Amino acid sequence: MEYILYEQKGSIATITINREKALNALNSQVLDELNATLDNVNLDEVRCLILTGAGEKSFVAGADIGEMSTLTKAEGEAFGKKGNDVFRKLETFPIPVIAAVNGFALGGGCEIAMSCDIRICSENAMFGQPEVGLGITPGFGGTQRLARLVGAGMAKQLIYTARNIKAPEAYRIGLVNDVIAATVDEAGNVTASAKDNLIAAAEKMATTIAQNAPIAVRNCKKAINEGLQVDMDKAIVIEEKLFGDCFETEDQKAGMGNFLEKDKEKKLKVVPFQNK
Ligand code: CAA
Repeated sequence: MEYILYEQKGSIATITINREKALNALNSQVLDELNATLDNVNLDEVRCLILTGAGEKSFVAGADIGEMSTLTKAEGEAFGKKGNDVFRKLETFPIPVIAAVNGFALGGGCEIAMSCDIRICSENAMFGQPEVGLGITPGFGGTQRLARLVGAGMAKQLIYTARNIKAPEAYRIGLVNDVIAATVDEAGNVTASAKDNLIAAAEKMATTIAQNAPIAVRNCKKAINEGLQVDMDKAIVIEEKLFGDCFETEDQKAGMGNFLEKDKEKKLKVVPFQNK
């Protein structure tokens, strides 16, 4: 892989988009490598993924403008589909994905972050959908996921104006769950960068998720994602089925058994994922 780094630490894995010279912009090769990386995640071991960009400056500065600049209508549509297919794979990935947004998350960068389950960002992060300034629409799901995340009115304002927003505003409108600052000592020296603290925060969150019952966590993701696509009557049936699916599993027996035996120390750490 030229543009993707993959590192597994126990039950947590980190995917880093590693094209720093182009601020991690997404060209076809990056998308293909990301797709292949997702296909190769060891789902018997990994319980939570972190997605980030190489360097301190940029998460992903969008789809590759150089590559897009000469596309025909048909090629443009196919490029949109390529991005959408990979992002949809990320969105429906069986385990949770945390986007650790370090710097620019513009165009396709904002869109890939929105395909993740949870977004946290560094204090220097900047979000936006600048596409209309380039003569195109957001093409990797931005018109759909931004509206679903922050509401149609705010999404339309951001997309029509192509205005970029900084981390505090992204937090205020609910685009990110948390903003992580650098650590500065009394003399004003940075002792830990915002990126380092961001990755530490993402790993801490991922560890907490990974300690919970893996089948239950997967089923929660499925229930929330699939339930949001249908009306409430259908949504609660989706929940009922996924709730029922947890019973008779080792996770459920251990989780409830430990509680009833008052053995909270055991928790669920010993329960391996059952690949059923
Ligand atoms: N595509 C291709 N190359 C990009 C890029 C992109 N989206 N973003 C940055 N780069 C490249 C630059 O061309 C530059 O390369 P060179 O050193 O070879 O010239 C390098 O990354 C560094 O960028 P800058 O010199 O521009 O860095 P800066 O600090 O001055 O500005 C920036 C940073 C504000 C993010 C600026 O690079 C920028 O505006 N980038 C484009 C952002 C954008 O419009 N993204 C949306 C793309 S469209 C899209 O994503 C469509 C879709 O929905 C699928």
